[in-house]
Amino acid sequence: MSETSEPDVDTFRTDVINGLSARPRAISCKYLYDTRGSELFERICHTPEYYVTRADLALHESHLNDIAARIGPDAHVIELGSGAGIKTRQLLASLHSPRAYTPIEISAAALTRSSRELEAAFPDIEIVPVQADYTQPIPAEAFALNPPAKRRIVYFPGSTISNFESDQAVHFLQRLGRIAGPDGAVLVGVDLVKPADQLIKAYDDADGVTSEFNRNLLVRMQRELGADIDLEAFTHEARWNEAHSRIEMHLVARRPTTIVIDGHQFAFEAGESIHTENSHKYSVESFQALAARAGLQSDMVWFDPDGVFSMHWLVADA
Ligand code: AVJ
Repeated sequence: MSETSEPDVDTFRTDVINGLSARPRAISCKYLYDTRGSELFERICHTPEYYVTRADLALHESHLNDIAARIGPDAHVIELGSGAGIKTRQLLASLHSPRAYTPIEISAAALTRSSRELEAAFPDIEIVPVQADYTQPIPAEAFALNPPAKRRIVYFPGSTISNFESDQAVHFLQRLGRIAGPDGAVLVGVDLVKPADQLIKAYDDADGVTSEFNRNLLVRMQRELGADIDLEAFTHEARWNEAHSRIEMHLVARRPTTIVIDGHQFAFEAGESIHTENSHKYSVESFQALAARAGLQSDMVWFDPDGVFSMHWLVADA
C-alpha cells in the first residue's frame, strides 16, 4: 500500500489564511469533507432537491450490463475514491471474470473498511488498495499487477470531476488517461447542465442540509484552527455562474464581521463572500471538447432515464 499522509492542520491553516487573504476569497472544497462534512454530504444525497446521486444510481441500474460488456473480461478497475458505495458493488458484481479492483482513497480508515468489505463480498476479485490523494500524481507501481490485467478501467463516478475548473479538469483527465493506458478506458460521471432555478434548489435544499454542509467549514475552522468566527454572521448561498456554467457555493457575510486566526484579522463587509465550491455543469458536447483537450475521445455516452446525468467512456485519441 503506498503511503501519503492526510492533509495536516498546518496545511489547512496556511490554505485558509491564503484563501481569506485573496480576492475573491476562496477556500478549497476539499476542506468541506471532514467527518461531519462527509456525513452531511451523505444527507444531501437523500434530499429531494439533490437529484445527482439518484440519477447516477439510475444510470448504473439501466446500463451496467452494457458497461460491463464493454469493459470485458480480466479487467483491473481503478476507482478514485473509497469505493464503499453501492455503485462499486453493482459494478463489480456485473463484470465478466474481473481481475482486480483498486480503490484510491486518502483516508486510511475508510480505505481499510471498504477493502475488507469488498474482499468478503468478492472473494474472486483481487482487492489492491492504494492510500493516496488522487488529486496528486501517483506512482505507476502503485497499480502494477503481475501478470498485468487485460485492460485498466479508471472509474470516476458521481460527477466529482465537476469540482475542477476546466484547465485542472483537462490536466486531471490527462492523468486518468495515462493510468488507463492505450488499451484501457476512463469511465467518468458527468452531471448535465439544466435550468438555473433547478440547479440552485439542488444546492440550496429547503431543509438546509447543504447550508449546514457549507457552514460546517466555519465550524471546522473554529475547532481545528481556533478561529474566532461569528457563525451567525455568515449565510449559505448557491449561485449560478452562467459564464462558467457552474454552481458556486459561497459563505456570505450578512453584516460586517471579522474572522481572526492566529492574530490575522479578516474583515468582511456585508455581502462579501468566501467562495467554497464549484460544481461545473456540462453538455455532452462541452464535456467531449474538454476530454479532447486531454487527448481522450468519448466513444460512448450513457444517460439516466430522465436524461439529467451522463457517463462517458473515454479512450486515448487514435
Ligand atoms: C460531490 C462534487 C459531485 O458538486 O454536486 C453537493 C458536491 N456540494 N452539494 C456536487 C456537492 C454541494 C457534489 N460533488
